[in-house]
Amino acid sequence: MVNGWPHLSGTVDSVFLFITVISVILLVGITGVMVYFVVKYNRKRNPSPKDIEGNLLLEILWTVIPTILVLAIFYYGWEGFKFMRKVPENAMPVKVTARQFSWSFEYSNGRKSDVLRVPVKKPVKLTITSADVIHSLYIPAFRAKEDAVPGMETYLWFLPDETGTYDLFCTEYCGAGHASMITKVEVVPEGEFEEWYRGEARETERDKGLRLLQEKGCLGCHSTDGSKKIGPTFKGLFGRQVTVLTDGKARTITTDEGYISRAILEPQADVVKDYPPVMPKVQVSQDELKTIIGYLKELK
Ligand code: CUA
Repeated sequence: MVNGWPHLSGTVDSVFLFITVISVILLVGITGVMVYFVVKYNRKRNPSPKDIEGNLLLEILWTVIPTILVLAIFYYGWEGFKFMRKVPENAMPVKVTARQFSWSFEYSNGRKSDVLRVPVKKPVKLTITSADVIHSLYIPAFRAKEDAVPGMETYLWFLPDETGTYDLFCTEYCGAGHASMITKVEVVPEGEFEEWYRGEARETERDKGLRLLQEKGCLGCHSTDGSKKIGPTFKGLFGRQVTVLTDGKARTITTDEGYISRAILEPQADVVKDYPPVMPKVQVSQDELKTIIGYLKELK
């Protein structure tokens, strides 16, 4: 218990354990009886089979006992489900947007991040939506999982009771970059969280460029260190010769400001050869576009 709230993982795990114990008892019991009967009623011992009439007691037992078991499973599952759907009043709200192929998190004060940073021992409520297709947000450590559906808001809550870094990833196949749709939950002491939450001060133009690339989800598919992901790397992008397919025809061009802004605003116009044409349209203002291009120019 933390702040009067039992662990969410405890609720899920106890239902899981309950079902597992019942399954193991049934498996061992049924297999045991089966083996016993195979030996006992072997044809060598019973050359002529006997007819067995009905047995009222047995029939009642094998109806009543399984009924009680499945109702118990339902009851525990239902209690756990109700608990998971009932968000504590003091939960910190965070908006989550899933897109191909990244996550972005927005806090009440407008602070955005591509990592879910939260204070320890405080319940967090995630309001989840998707910018394109159906994704599913999953944080195994907190037993938290909920679909991200375009045009709709879903939610979940969890209570991180220890500081640390936990995996958060997409668990609904959503396209070529599904496997790279992974980020972290960083659970930090409250003071550290507050400082970060109020931060973003004195940001250089370069920091801002990188932050925009994170917030817009670009870094889900493009690296800044030269490594190959779903899309080409951003490193050394500017002024490079690339072969692109325009209306299915290959042509070689030099990447300049015009090319980069077209690649962001109309990603399907020129698709870099040997890469899948999966890039979504990105919403950016003219200022943001300028900052991003400035950042990419410097990324050598
Ligand atoms: Cu998003 Cu899989």
